[in-house]
Formats: sequence, structure tokens, C-alpha cells
Amino acid sequence: MTIEFSSVDKRFGQVEVLQSVSLTVKDGEFVTLIGPSGCGKTTLLRIAAGLETPSGGEVKVNGDTPRNACRQHQIGVAFQRPALLASRTALKNVMMTLEITGREGALSPGDLLTDFGLGGFHDHYPHQLSGGMQQRVNIAAALVHNPPILLLDEPFGALDELTRESMGEWLGGVLNRSSKTVIFVTHSVEEATILSDRIVVLSARPGRISEIITVDMSRPRSREIRTDEGFLREVAKVRSSLYRAVEMSQ
Ligand SMILES: Nc1ncnc2c1ncn2[C@@H]1O[C@H](COP(=O)(O)OP(=O)(O)OP(=O)(O)O)[C@@H](O)[C@H]1O
Ligand SMILES: [Mg+2]
Repeated sequence: MTIEFSSVDKRFGQVEVLQSVSLTVKDGEFVTLIGPSGCGKTTLLRIAAGLETPSGGEVKVNGDTPRNACRQHQIGVAFQRPALLASRTALKNVMMTLEITGREGALSPGDLLTDFGLGGFHDHYPHQLSGGMQQRVNIAAALVHNPPILLLDEPFGALDELTRESMGEWLGGVLNRSSKTVIFVTHSVEEATILSDRIVVLSARPGRISEIITVDMSRPRSREIRTDEGFLREVAKVRSSLYRAVEMSQ
């Protein structure tokens, strides 16, 4: 499954949010969007999910419109705040996706939760789960209908650094078992570098692609790589690119 953005512009009234964004995310590729707050990352994801329409240009998901791809349940979306219902257990929250998509039994919600390290927590309510556990339920809910495409908007943004690291490692492992095309948004240069095949650096609003960096190391990458010299060089490369992108916009 590919996602192809061709000269995508987006305006909200007078405000120009995205300017001529062209990018092809290849089948099975993990691409991260990084850039200053307000540069249009969430908007770009929402356009890919068919939740917003571009003001100019177009997006194709395997040659079709995002809305059709969504209707065919090809896209799973998870946002920063877990969209869990407080009145439903972890298991029932995951099952809700299947109720909405009508795609019964693509993956077993119970098996998925167990696979996500939540074997003993199926019947727990969100308030009985830690932030990291809630995020795992949230991602399970985005994955349970087994969509070939995942759009993840700062899914670990609210977590402390160590939980975040282990969640990143966990996600890398999960994705390794089921090849998916992923667009991920983060503010963490390290997280982007550890997870991605390519990192798209966006300038401040209006968001334009400032640079695309290929992280030339095999995936998934373990936590130990964080102290590796080659890895640190990659992180530094992404960080300078981000600085350049911000300067370019000033
Ligand atoms: N529905 C909307 N109506 C009007 N303006 C909007 C709407 N959605 C987003 N915007 C504006 O578009 C710009 C980009 O917002 P967006 O949420 O895409 O940024 P972002 O890069 O995800 O930021 P952050 O890193 O803080 O999450 C912001 O200036 C925001 O105010
Ligand atoms: Mg955002």
C-alpha cells in the first residue's frame, strides 16, 4: 500500500497551513513527520486519513482517494490522546473498532491485547491502566481490523521518556511482525531516528518539506542502538536539519 501526496496545499480560511507537499510513502515503509508545532503535521495526517480535503493537489492511497481507502478499512489511525471510552474495558474498547468498521474478526481483540503485553488487563477500565498501557490499547484499537496503513499522530507524546523508549521499541517489534505502511508524527528526534526508514522534516507554517533524511540502518532497532556512534550521528543529522527548517522559515 502506498500513500502519494502530490503538491498538497491546505488553507483554513486565510491561514496557509501546508504548501506544495509532495511525498510518496512506499509499501511497508515507516515515514516520520517532524517539524515545529503548528507546521501542519496533524493536518497532513488528517488529509491522508480522508478527514480533511486538500485545498490544492491530491492524495492517493494505492491509487484511490483516502476516503475510499478508509471506507474499505485500509487505514488505522491513532492520535496523541488515547481515544478510549471510560465506560468500556480495554477489550471492549478494542472491539469498538470492529463494531464501527463492521469488519468482524480481522484479528482477535483478545489475542492482540495479550500480544501487546496486556494479557491480564482485558477487563480493566482505562482509569485502571497506566498511560503506556492506555496507549497500547489505543494502538490495538487502530490495528485490530488489520489495516495495511497506520497513521500515528504523536502516540507517545504524553508519556515519560523511559516509557516512551520502551513503547517505541515495542512498536518497532509489532510492525516487524506485520509489514505495514506507516506515517508517524513525533517531536522527538531520537524517536524518529530509531523508528523510521525516512524522516520528513517540515518547515514552520506554512509547512513545506525542508528535507527528507533516509536512516540507513536495518529495522527494527533495539534500545541499545541509542548509544551507538552511528546512530548518534544520524540523530545529529536530523537535529541540524530541523534547526535549518526552522531558520528557513524565519
Ligand atoms: N480545523 C481547523 N480550522 C482552522 N485552523 C486549523 C484547523 N486545524 C488546524 N488548524 C491550524 O493549522 C495549523 C496547523 O495545525 P496542525 O494541528 O496540523 O499542526 P501540527 O504540526 O500538528 O502542530 P503540533 O506539533 O502542535 O501538533 C495551526 O495553525 C492550526 O491552528
Ligand atoms: Mg499535531
